[in-house]
Amino acid sequence: MKKWLLLTIISAFALVLAACGGGSGAKSSEDYTKENPFVIKFSHVTAIDSVKGKAADYFAKLVDEKTEGRVKVEVYPSSQLYGDADELDALMSGNVHMIAPSVTKMVKLDPRWQYVDMPFLFQDEEHVQAFFDSEVAQSLFNSEALASNDIMGKAFWPNGFKNFSSNKNPLVKPEDFAGQKFRAQAGKVLEAQFKALNAGSATISFGETYAALQQGTVDGTENPHNNFDTMKFYEVQKYYSTSAHGRLDYAIFVNKSYWESIPEDLRTLVDEALAEATTYAQGLAADENAKSLEKIKSIGTVEVYEMSQEERDVLKEAMQPVYDEFADVITQELLDGIEALKK
Ligand code: LMR
Repeated sequence: MKKWLLLTIISAFALVLAACGGGSGAKSSEDYTKENPFVIKFSHVTAIDSVKGKAADYFAKLVDEKTEGRVKVEVYPSSQLYGDADELDALMSGNVHMIAPSVTKMVKLDPRWQYVDMPFLFQDEEHVQAFFDSEVAQSLFNSEALASNDIMGKAFWPNGFKNFSSNKNPLVKPEDFAGQKFRAQAGKVLEAQFKALNAGSATISFGETYAALQQGTVDGTENPHNNFDTMKFYEVQKYYSTSAHGRLDYAIFVNKSYWESIPEDLRTLVDEALAEATTYAQGLAADENAKSLEKIKSIGTVEVYEMSQEERDVLKEAMQPVYDEFADVITQELLDGIEALKK
């Protein structure tokens, strides 16, 4: 075959491929149809019936409805595509396009995200919501660390207050923690939190936590009620205390270049869907956590200890060294900004 003919065939084939889309190849909205949609891969680590799982599926459903199937959100739950140790890298490399990590996992890019781990920083759900709606929270999205990695922060989704659990003994007073080893999500703040209680910690990915508790690699962990329930940690833990000592919340991050390659009219609809899914997540979290606590209490495999405010205050006092060590890392400006949003 003549060379020019071969080149013409190859170019024609490339054009047909580009026009068919299937991703970021095509530029125009008309190129995307129900049969050939723009695909957004959304990876997360929790179960489909968790707060995050439900909100992610709701978002996918809204996008499907609003774009009449021309944008398809493929949700990959339960770490089935990427675990929490590698989903951020997958986002940066464009292997997935959207993630909703527990914000402390963003410590890899910016240590200020560990604000969420500062003991007893948030007073109640209203305080957390006021933070999500504030300029203070937006300032975390407007960082050089995100921009230089082609990541855009889009929204905050709540989960809830974390609670301690253990296989060794009930955890109420600071001395109850001594000598135990706890699973931690990421970062130095959580390590310091356990150290302040004379306990050790190990960073273990969420998907491997059940096995680590079962095998005794760690004695205990900390979770919002809903994660403890939907991951069935009650099968591998004996004691659960409603310590509410810290938060576990999410932020939605997207690969910026990929997001901006969604044709503008479709992108407007996807952004609308995300705003509605965010409202849904914000309405869902507290209820799901309350239901999960009832289930954990009724299931009978775990001894639940309901802590009083006075008992929490004693833990708070014991954890004060975390503030002494990390206020500069989180920045006093961010901590003061959050404190000022208390009612
Ligand atoms: C965790 O590691 O505990 C969290 O990332 C789980 C979650 O809710 O995403």
